[in-house]
Amino acid sequence: MSRCLVPGSFDPVTNGHMDIIRRAAALFDEVTVGVLHNPEKAGYFPVPKRVEMLEKACAGLKNVRIIAYGGLLARLTRETGIRVVVRGVRGVQDLESETAMARINGTLDPGLETVFLPAFPGFEQVSASMVRQILLFGGDPAAFVPPEVLEDIMAGFAK
Ligand code: PNS
Repeated sequence: MSRCLVPGSFDPVTNGHMDIIRRAAALFDEVTVGVLHNPEKAGYFPVPKRVEMLEKACAGLKNVRIIAYGGLLARLTRETGIRVVVRGVRGVQDLESETAMARINGTLDPGLETVFLPAFPGFEQVSASMVRQILLFGGDPAAFVPPEVLEDIMAGFAK
């Protein structure tokens, strides 16, 4: 059975993330979406809320499960035995930082491969930080986030 990990902060989940998760779900038998977080950093949305929103957005994808993990990605892959990490790349800037991360992770967990999926047209500009900025300035992020979680995102921001 082929398995992969799609890691990220998902703070919050965006349409760009969903593009990558859907494509990973078509390529692998089982996809684990990992909300990787630094326990020392608060982030914007609480981790359980990020997991809940991903669960809603991925409800139609039967081979996708969501987990939260507060530690090194390479430790998670060692613990789970997952041998492939899938990351989306939006452009050359992403490619540079993602290549560095892939090399570090492959050194910490030898044999671990990182597969890059290029963002499809329309998703190159979408990022969670951009969504947070739209919210901060009172804008409407509806075009950039899954419709299933828009209400949660707006309610989370109101708090
Ligand atoms: O959605 P993001 O913020 O681009 O995701 C980045 C993430 C969470 C995948 C990355 O920061 C990560 O893997 N964090 C866990 C700690 C780790 O293993 N870092 C890489 C080695 S220094």
